[in-house]
Amino acid sequence: MGYSFGRDDVAFLGSTAGHAALTEVDRLELTSATHLRDLDRVRRAYGDRAAALVETVRLRRRARAKLADANGWLFTDDALQQATPTLVARHRAARLAGRAVHDVTCSIGAELGELARVSPAVIGSDLDDVRLSMAAHNLAGTRNVLLAKADALVSCSTGTVVIADPARRADGRRTHDPAKLQPPLPDLLAAYPGRDLAVKCAPGLDFDRLDWAGEIEVVSLDGAVREACLWSPGLAGGVTRRATVLSGSGESWSLTDTDPAEIPERDPGEWIIDPDGAVVRAGLVRHYAAKHGLWQLDPRIAYLTGDRVPAGQRGFRIVERLEFREKSLRAQLRKHDCGALEILVRGVDIDPDQLRRKLKPNGSQPYSLVITRIGRTAAVFLCTAHIG
Ligand SMILES: C[S@@+](CC[C@H](N)C(=O)[O-])C[C@H]1O[C@@H](n2cnc3c(N)ncnc32)[C@H](O)[C@@H]1O
Repeated sequence: MGYSFGRDDVAFLGSTAGHAALTEVDRLELTSATHLRDLDRVRRAYGDRAAALVETVRLRRRARAKLADANGWLFTDDALQQATPTLVARHRAARLAGRAVHDVTCSIGAELGELARVSPAVIGSDLDDVRLSMAAHNLAGTRNVLLAKADALVSCSTGTVVIADPARRADGRRTHDPAKLQPPLPDLLAAYPGRDLAVKCAPGLDFDRLDWAGEIEVVSLDGAVREACLWSPGLAGGVTRRATVLSGSGESWSLTDTDPAEIPERDPGEWIIDPDGAVVRAGLVRHYAAKHGLWQLDPRIAYLTGDRVPAGQRGFRIVERLEFREKSLRAQLRKHDCGALEILVRGVDIDPDQLRRKLKPNGSQPYSLVITRIGRTAAVFLCTAHIG
């Protein structure tokens, strides 16, 4: 949960004296091994401000993995956890380029910074005074951003695209119930009827409860699914599902339900491909297969197969199809001199870690086992992993 910042902390940290103190504190290691000694030094130098200084330096270090320009930024621990990663915020902002935007749950401003680069005018509002004062510090000098305290459930701007990112934690826990978000998602959607709206949500949210008429975009970054975003019909351009795959190297691609989805039914090819989680969560596995000349191992399972691997993707070359019996699996792994063993499971109730412990592979060659269901039977493929 971290240190509980007050507005006076923010005023100090943003002052010339605060800046100088942060520079000094940043010279310390601040690791778990040095924590007590470092904290004692900071307390002797800065008294009551020590906790705010140490926490800010720690959060800035942690922020580097997520936010591009956060060196001089102020955060709370929760606000940093909730902040949209820069590459994801940049992608959303690019879809709104040229439009005036109101971020109605702006927090410390991670999305505002990216919107300000491409939008003529940006409004940020939130109910949390401390986060708003941190946003004012973080975006100082960004001339096209206006900050205000306002309730997201009461529309207070006109002519803007509204973006929102309701907090995913209720009572300190993650929730999949849209009504338990803060602000509650159904109330938020009802507050902006007919407006152009983009709402960031957890990818695991139960979208069937929403009956959303626009687009649901699932976004992954470096292979991990990060969020779903609801785009109102006016911003969706006829798309209802989109998968967007971003990578830290700057490459990105998207696939939508308007892309072709016809694929053949065939026996397994040379390779098995596990599509990116964004594709799977967006329900676009067949579309992805059609785009890359692949087909499904089973129509109800998200593993694909084919005779080549899409460029840059990880694929599993099938070495042998095995029987799903523990004893014969163990014998086969021994025969192949299997050492490090990755186990991928879909559509069958198996715990990969437990199975790996039972199989006890102790050879020298790395392999992957893909265990799935084809029709009514479990299918096991011994594979080697490669990048296409
Ligand atoms: C998940 S955070 C937003 C993070 C932000 N998108 C970012 O990237 O930094 C959600 C924010 O919604 C704010 N919030 C919750 N209920 C609100 C309401 N009714 N009106 C305005 N803001 C609200 C919280 O204070 C919190 O800062």
